[in-house]
Amino acid sequence: MKNIYTAANKKEGIKRLAELILQSDYAIVLTGAGMDTESNIPDFRGKSELWRNIDARVVADINTIKKNYRLFHQFYKERLSVMGNVKPHAGHYVLAELEEKGLIKGIATQNISGLHIKAGNKKVYELHGDLRKIYCNNCGKSATAQDLIDFKSCSFCHEYALRPNVVFFGEALPPDVWNTALNEIKKSDLLIVIGTSLEVAPVNQLPYLTSGKTVLINAEETAYKFDLIILGKAKEILVDCLAVIQKQGLQP
Ligand code: OAD
Repeated sequence: MKNIYTAANKKEGIKRLAELILQSDYAIVLTGAGMDTESNIPDFRGKSELWRNIDARVVADINTIKKNYRLFHQFYKERLSVMGNVKPHAGHYVLAELEEKGLIKGIATQNISGLHIKAGNKKVYELHGDLRKIYCNNCGKSATAQDLIDFKSCSFCHEYALRPNVVFFGEALPPDVWNTALNEIKKSDLLIVIGTSLEVAPVNQLPYLTSGKTVLINAEETAYKFDLIILGKAKEILVDCLAVIQKQGLQP
């Protein structure tokens, strides 16, 4: 069965996606950095962005804070500055509307931008944390995003160790959030994966946990098999999909 749709036959793929959503009882969405690129937040491994030829695994590693705080700081200073004024795009709002209509039950996200919550989604599981919450890696005292941007040391222990509350390589995911996302995906009869290379564990194991249908919406293929793959930009695909759903909903 043909299951990969590209620009040439995208319309057909989007119709199939709309049907799967309408037929499902418990659809869950899993998003990654590709969901946010159209809100001007660069991804980690997509063609659009290679951060100074440095692997995200190096800068976002717990050891980099201790061994090379300047490099770590430069990366997160840039990400915080980029993130300051970002807004959800039309695709984020489609997901909020789908949740409101009861057509999706929640979103597990690797993104630390908060854009799903800003768009209005209520059930959002932020598996990799929240970039805007800052604390000292040495003593735990909280600080502001501006303190980190300004390269300040911790006001309490004076170490140069301010960091965002995001999960680094070498750290565990927040257990409550992880377990909830895991159970929701196990319950799902449709899992829609959007904008992720699925290169990072343990999140890349989540698509295996549903016994339902699986869909990938991404700019490029991944190493994983899906029941339906639509290659293209998340925003346009989601907007077009909602239009099909609305049209079908109007039919007797
Ligand atoms: P990646 O950068 O690895 O993958 C993003 C994927 O989205 C790529 O396959 C892109 O081709 C695709 N993409 C880009 N723009 C798109 C668009 N507009 N529409 C559809 N697809 C698009 O990002 P993640 O898989 O999210 O972790 O990366 C996982 C984790 O690695 C991140 O959460 C981060 C990083 O290290 C931490 O910081 C803990």
